[in-house]
Amino acid sequence: MSEIEQLEKLLADAVFQMASADEEGLRRIEIRLLGRKGEVNRILSTLPALASAERAALGAAANAVKQKLEAEILRRRAALGRELESELAEKEWIDATEPGRAPALGHAHPTSAAVAEIASIFERIGFRRARYVEAEWDHYAFEALNMPHDHPARDDWETFFVDAPPSKKFGKMVLTPHTSNAQIREMERRRPPIRMVSLSKTYRRQSDVTHSAMFHQFEGVVIDKGIALTHLKGVLDYFAKNYFGPDRVTRLRPHHFKFTEPSFEVDISCGLCGGTGRTAAGPCRVCKSGWLELGGAGMIHPNVLRAGKIDPSKWSGLAFGWGVERTMMMRGGQNIPDIRLMYMNDSRFLTQF
Ligand code: FA5
Repeated sequence: MSEIEQLEKLLADAVFQMASADEEGLRRIEIRLLGRKGEVNRILSTLPALASAERAALGAAANAVKQKLEAEILRRRAALGRELESELAEKEWIDATEPGRAPALGHAHPTSAAVAEIASIFERIGFRRARYVEAEWDHYAFEALNMPHDHPARDDWETFFVDAPPSKKFGKMVLTPHTSNAQIREMERRRPPIRMVSLSKTYRRQSDVTHSAMFHQFEGVVIDKGIALTHLKGVLDYFAKNYFGPDRVTRLRPHHFKFTEPSFEVDISCGLCGGTGRTAAGPCRVCKSGWLELGGAGMIHPNVLRAGKIDPSKWSGLAFGWGVERTMMMRGGQNIPDIRLMYMNDSRFLTQF
């Protein structure tokens, strides 16, 4: 068989094989025929040994076969692409009119939502929302609040101390064990009349079902001329009705805080038994006594006003401080068995709110 005949057979065989080849087969045919060491080049390598007339004829035939092969490979490759597309269209049918799947939407953490709601309730009666540092000097957390260094009451706050050099003027650095530092910070920043609610994180070395090492408090402060206990009771009742419901009332139970005089524990009437301690089924299972404990309150101690450079003979003030998580858990009978669940980041728990 002459070289030209060999070329024509090569082309005919290749076109036949390509008709049933897949992508991989097509690639192998291409390499075998048109590759650097392929059949067409092998035939072309014989050219130099030929007489010039034969050389011209074989050269032209080889080029023509090469072009036809290239065109055929391109055509077959395009056809394979179309086959794949229609095969996919058969298998992976998409209904473009079907409504999309809605992405899962997040929502505010229950504590953040409670903080925003509590702040807005107080803002409606003219309280300015404030937030002070959470790594604080001893002076603001205790000393200026009329709690001298060795006073046993300071043990109740079970403080975290920060491993930082102490300040000569303000003492050691602590993580705020309560938001009452905001009383002094606010008095230093503003002159009376003052109406402020400070909401921030607080930290204590406590951890059990009703205590979390990190929790939130809100601190309310009013300083003006002639502020009396009746104003305190009025503000507390206003909050109870707006946060818990119109039928709820508060009561003040005498207590002791170094920074308020007189001082009280604030209770709120129970939502389940209406403050009676009894339901039709027997003793109330929520409160047992008709009342639930909310937090502390009182009239700002004159020493604290003095520490904030406010003259107690001209001005008087009230203050209260409660835990946000406890307040939130008390609403609507939410049955949260362990306060620490709030900060375990388990979305099965958090999505319930
Ligand atoms: C105080 O912290 C005072 N500073 C409150 C105060 C402010 C009194 C202004 C007078 C005037 P107490 O230690 O009782 O008080 O805490 C107040 C509230 O914080 C508690 O009633 C409770 O709701 C919440 N609380 C305290 N410790 C924790 C804790 N570890 N986890 C969650 N909530 C807590």
